[in-house]
Amino acid sequence: MGKVPQHVAIIMDGNGRWAKKRGLPRNMGHKQGSAAVRKVCEAAWDLGIKYLTIYAFSTENWARPKDEVDALMKLLREYMKTSIKESSENNMRVRVIGDISALSEDLQESIRELMRVSADNTGLCFQIALNYGGRDELIRSVKSAVKGLAEAGKTVEELTEADISANLDTKGIPDPDLLIRTSGEQRLSNFLLWQLAYAEFYFTDTLWPDFGKKELAKAIEHYGNRERRFGGLVNETK
Ligand code: IPE
Ligand code: IPE
Ligand code: MG
Repeated sequence: MGKVPQHVAIIMDGNGRWAKKRGLPRNMGHKQGSAAVRKVCEAAWDLGIKYLTIYAFSTENWARPKDEVDALMKLLREYMKTSIKESSENNMRVRVIGDISALSEDLQESIRELMRVSADNTGLCFQIALNYGGRDELIRSVKSAVKGLAEAGKTVEELTEADISANLDTKGIPDPDLLIRTSGEQRLSNFLLWQLAYAEFYFTDTLWPDFGKKELAKAIEHYGNRERRFGGLVNETK
């Protein structure tokens, strides 16, 4: 296998269509999708990936029917609770990105607890984007960057790229090298707008609940065959 990306970001899509194809309610697709997340975390680490970021709930997903939003929140709650228990076994460091202040108090509490108990783990660095929107994150970042400048006695003219990066939810995490989106859709849907500036994109028709190690390995192989440029010329030694 060629070069393995250090950081993979995934827009997991197609849970609803997976369920529909089987005559099941959409929520069953989400349940199966949540099981796929666990498998993919394991597979990612096995394949040599250090950072994995998945899009679990967007700032736009509140527009879905209330019973679907409730079911997704219930699954997320269960996920956090189980992960708190399993964190010493799977050695993953879990972080939630996005504006969690809009979530129910008990879910916020579970998230904080999970981030706390897993903070010193040395395995996969796993980011879950929850009530996440790239535009919302950028606005929050710019606001705190400008505040930081003022506190340092600087003017807004001195704002740099580094100031923005340092105030994103992903601060301290390298930008994704590879973005995967399942279910055949080819759009960003407001995901990691700043961080994906130079990522390679991989799209597959596979619906998220069917995505597993084999599919992930295929995406990595595709990545390994790309020549990354970052605006310059291909550097064979890179
Ligand atoms: C992705 O599956 C999961 C979330 C957005 C939470 P969808 O629910 O978007 O599934 P489709 O696109 O309707 O098939
Ligand atoms: C993107 O999927 C959001 C997540 C995967 C959480 P959607 O299914 O909500 O995106 P659109 O609406 O098709 O763009
Ligand atoms: Mg969708």
